Amino acid sequence: MKVLSTTRLPGPAWDELRDVEIGRPIERRPDVEALIVPNETVDEHVLGLLPSLRLVANFSVGYDRIDVAACAARGVAVTNTPGVVDAATADLAMALMLATRRRLVEGDRHVRAGGWTTPWFAGLFLGHDVGGATLGIVGLGRIGSAVARRARGFDMRVLYTQRHEVETDLAQYRELDALLGEADVVSLHVPLSAETTGLIDARRLALLHDGATLVNTARGAIIDEDALVAELVSGRISAGLDVYAHEPQVPEELWSLPNVVLAPHLGSATIETRSAMARIVVDNVLALERGEPLLTPVSA
Ligand code: DGY
Repeated sequence: MKVLSTTRLPGPAWDELRDVEIGRPIERRPDVEALIVPNETVDEHVLGLLPSLRLVANFSVGYDRIDVAACAARGVAVTNTPGVVDAATADLAMALMLATRRRLVEGDRHVRAGGWTTPWFAGLFLGHDVGGATLGIVGLGRIGSAVARRARGFDMRVLYTQRHEVETDLAQYRELDALLGEADVVSLHVPLSAETTGLIDARRLALLHDGATLVNTARGAIIDEDALVAELVSGRISAGLDVYAHEPQVPEELWSLPNVVLAPHLGSATIETRSAMARIVVDNVLALERGEPLLTPVSA
């Protein structure tokens, strides 16, 4: 079975694919039956180029760039990599929270630039406490819950919001607007969908109190990026960002700001996690080849 993959996957599972080619779906390829992409655009155009396609195996848990309905209409299955990215993504959310609140990147730059020339003094790079602060989690799914567990280890008070209130000991429920007004740190963990695009708009950003920190390891387009840039330029809030509305473009206005920590979409970027993701992708392709049920299908 011919497999086209837009990227080579890390870890040993990759070697189990017998007939795989690295390339992009840019020309008509009637031989390709499975396509591996890291949440890249799969739309009517791409599907039209691959008339024999039976599976889009997404190397990512988020599949917002894959037109699952168009795939379903053509009988093409879609799979993703749930479960295995939770810990690494939650770790990165905590890392961004800590780095931003404690001004770690600013301090690192200061040392490397040879700027630390005076003995210790009480006012150098004062940040804000993480322990004892209130964390507001938007989306208490697998990753959001993993963040809540970590935050409790840091003695944070944890709130959450999502479409439906659930019974949980991890966090207290609030409506979104109330959570934004109450939290010292807000961390986003909802998938990108029509409903969540622009969820954190200018009005909602204005609800964050002065000195609050926004952490985004979910998807950039959940926030109105222009409005976020304006808030960050004003210096009223800080942010730890791993994702952006138009990756790999990061708004240039942010590059020199001290109150923002910028990462290049590293949420799942550990050797262990990416290898586990590759394992799921390859197992889905092998299941298709053997005529067995797919491991992690997503529904339209
Ligand atoms: C995911 O798995 O969704 C990561 O953000 C990579 O896209």
